[in-house]
Amino acid sequence: MSKLPDTICSAPFFKLELDNAFRFRPCCKFEGGYEVDKKFSFEDAWNSQDRKNLMKDFLDGKKPKQCRECWVEEELNVGSYRNSMREWIPDSEIEKYLYKKEFYPKILDIKISNLCNMRCRMCGPGASSQIAKEFLKYDEISREDYDFFRDKEILTKENIDTLKSWLPDIERIEITGGETFINPELFELLELCVETDNAKHITFHTNTNGTIFSEKLNKLFKEFKSTSIGFSIDDSDNRFEYQRDGGDWNEVEENLRNYQKLDLPKDFFINCTVSFLNIYYMPEFLQWCIDNKWYMGFNILFLPEFNHIGNIPRFIKDKVIEKYEKFPKFMDRREGFNIDKLPKLIDMMNLVEVVDDSHFKYAWNEIKKVDERRNQKYSDSHPEFYEIIKEYINEKV
Ligand SMILES: C[S@@+](CC[C@H](N)C(=O)[O-])C[C@H]1O[C@@H](n2cnc3c(N)ncnc32)[C@H](O)[C@@H]1O
Ligand code: SF4
Repeated sequence: MSKLPDTICSAPFFKLELDNAFRFRPCCKFEGGYEVDKKFSFEDAWNSQDRKNLMKDFLDGKKPKQCRECWVEEELNVGSYRNSMREWIPDSEIEKYLYKKEFYPKILDIKISNLCNMRCRMCGPGASSQIAKEFLKYDEISREDYDFFRDKEILTKENIDTLKSWLPDIERIEITGGETFINPELFELLELCVETDNAKHITFHTNTNGTIFSEKLNKLFKEFKSTSIGFSIDDSDNRFEYQRDGGDWNEVEENLRNYQKLDLPKDFFINCTVSFLNIYYMPEFLQWCIDNKWYMGFNILFLPEFNHIGNIPRFIKDKVIEKYEKFPKFMDRREGFNIDKLPKLIDMMNLVEVVDDSHFKYAWNEIKKVDERRNQKYSDSHPEFYEIIKEYINEKV
């Protein structure tokens, strides 16, 4: 029996993340980062006092406040990242860790630079160079911030040396961006794993927007123990093209079919980011996933807050739920291939009860502002949902 507190998390012991804002931290849910002396230094981050303090807090049975998202999810019984980490790396590994002098990460989660070929509505300048360019044009970021995001270089000579000593222990590498499949650092990193003969024991995971199908990458994937790809598709047809500006739905659909045909150890799935923009159309998109034999996983957008589905006014939430009820086959709460998704979304929407319309107003004004800039119209591609929110907009905005 493990003597570790039940509130323990294996992330600080075994995982290192470098996020879009250039902070090192234990995982993507953690609020804050480890203080490092040298920018981007993997070694500094791993040896940082902040990481040591965090491990100690967990061992002492504390519930660090920076892990708020996990505690909230657990209270709501919706499965936290901490729970997933504990499944991947059991407590027995933490116990071994305590007796070993030197331990390297087992999981690396690296956001490479913001280089991207898209301007998705829910994304921001830290992850998309295209959005950063648009923000710069409309004075929404300073030249300094623009350069800050652009100049991210991960594979420095020092980090490559560190990686060479870490790779034999690494079990999983997660890379996101930016659009990873157009980033030369992704190729460099995968090649490093292959050349040092470490790829065969590593699971490689990434998210991609589905616009790229690269033979060179596919060849590298074959060398890995397994390749896991979340295809970031949140809707289909013209709604996809509106939400993910820069993408051509027919091309992406064709790429997705080609990815399904690849013969390699793989776990490919649809990673659907759910926000105010697409919540109404989830039944149709689930149907598309089922028709095309894709497993769909949800990624609920938390930031920016105004786009979070919990911040939709009650009147609109009820209309969304009313629509979902017309798709009883997706309202089953039993877990199964894509069948239990809508009830979970309803739970997430009901998580927050909004007391005023400020988020909704903000969300709508953002949509309008970007529509004008890009010469687009939300109502053209999302007429059914617009009909519902129109009534509200006329009254309140
Ligand atoms: C930032 S993208 C980078 C990788 C790649 N370009 C892609 O789109 O998959 C990684 C994931 O974050 C999601 N994402 C973008 N903006 C988000 C936000 N504000 N909140 C939560 N997820 C977001 C995307 O949908 C995508 O699935
Ligand atoms: S493709 Fe990914 S990184 Fe690029 S804008 Fe879209 S979500 Fe952001």
